[in-house]
Amino acid sequence: MRLIMHLRARDRVFDVPDELLDRVRKASSMSVLTGAGVSAESGIPTFRGAGGIWEKYDYRKLATAEGFREDPRLVWEWYQLRQIEMKKAQPNPAHRTISEMEQSVSDFSVLTQNIDGMHRRAGNKRIVELHGSIWRMRCIRDNTVFEIDDPVAEIPPLCQCGSVLRPDVVWFGEPLSPHVVDEASRVAGASDVMFVVGTSAIVYPAAALPIITKNSGGLVIEVNVEPTDVSSYADLSLFGPAGDILPAFWNTIVRSESFMKEHPFIPKR
Ligand code: APR
Repeated sequence: MRLIMHLRARDRVFDVPDELLDRVRKASSMSVLTGAGVSAESGIPTFRGAGGIWEKYDYRKLATAEGFREDPRLVWEWYQLRQIEMKKAQPNPAHRTISEMEQSVSDFSVLTQNIDGMHRRAGNKRIVELHGSIWRMRCIRDNTVFEIDDPVAEIPPLCQCGSVLRPDVVWFGEPLSPHVVDEASRVAGASDVMFVVGTSAIVYPAAALPIITKNSGGLVIEVNVEPTDVSSYADLSLFGPAGDILPAFWNTIVRSESFMKEHPFIPKR
């Protein structure tokens, strides 16, 4: 017999098999892969789809090494605007739930494609930033990395060595840091459960991470406003805004007695 739980998120009701919820409750290693959609409800635009960044802006000019070489000032003006926008934005209920997850599960990591720093602001500690961070700058001559808390004041910012600094993010055509890919793949392979939240899952190698989890016998749970490639192999797809779905789903997990037993260190609420 298949037991079905009814998960209510705002005005929607989702049927979730109880045995699947049980696997989530018993998971000792968990991860969340996030994309731009997790920050959409904080007011940070996504890249693709209606109103997406790449519909309005030319990625070749703004998000490639060639574009930066041609016009570092233009690229920095755009990144400065994004820094201002991201600084103003606040973590939303999806970010806060992901932070709560880390407090409740001892082996928990966030793998994020986002450069906005919102997971850190929400309280997460174990974060793999696959595509870098808008809050770091890197010298194009000696690779020195500088961390910043505020939007850049001068454009283009300069290193102590006099050379230009670039945003420490991964642009189109650039490889991810091998160390970051190794760590993300290790996490994905070790995850009993991976949540895939708010990503179109078309940019690799990030899009391969849930496949690693799936192939290693882990459970893949997708949260998105619309179907993606992940939907074809996810064990569960919950369609709706992450800020509604994720808190509702996580509440059904942590409220259960078996979760309390498995994770006795969870702060009682
Ligand atoms: N809740 C859940 N999902 C949402 C929400 C929401 N409120 N709003 C949008 N989404 C979903 C969209 O349906 C889409 O699948 O978020 C996804 C956003 O997809 P993209 O804009 O393609 O963002 P992402 O997957 O992060 O892009 C990957 O592409 O340009 C590069 O480097 C950039 O890291 C980025 C990478």
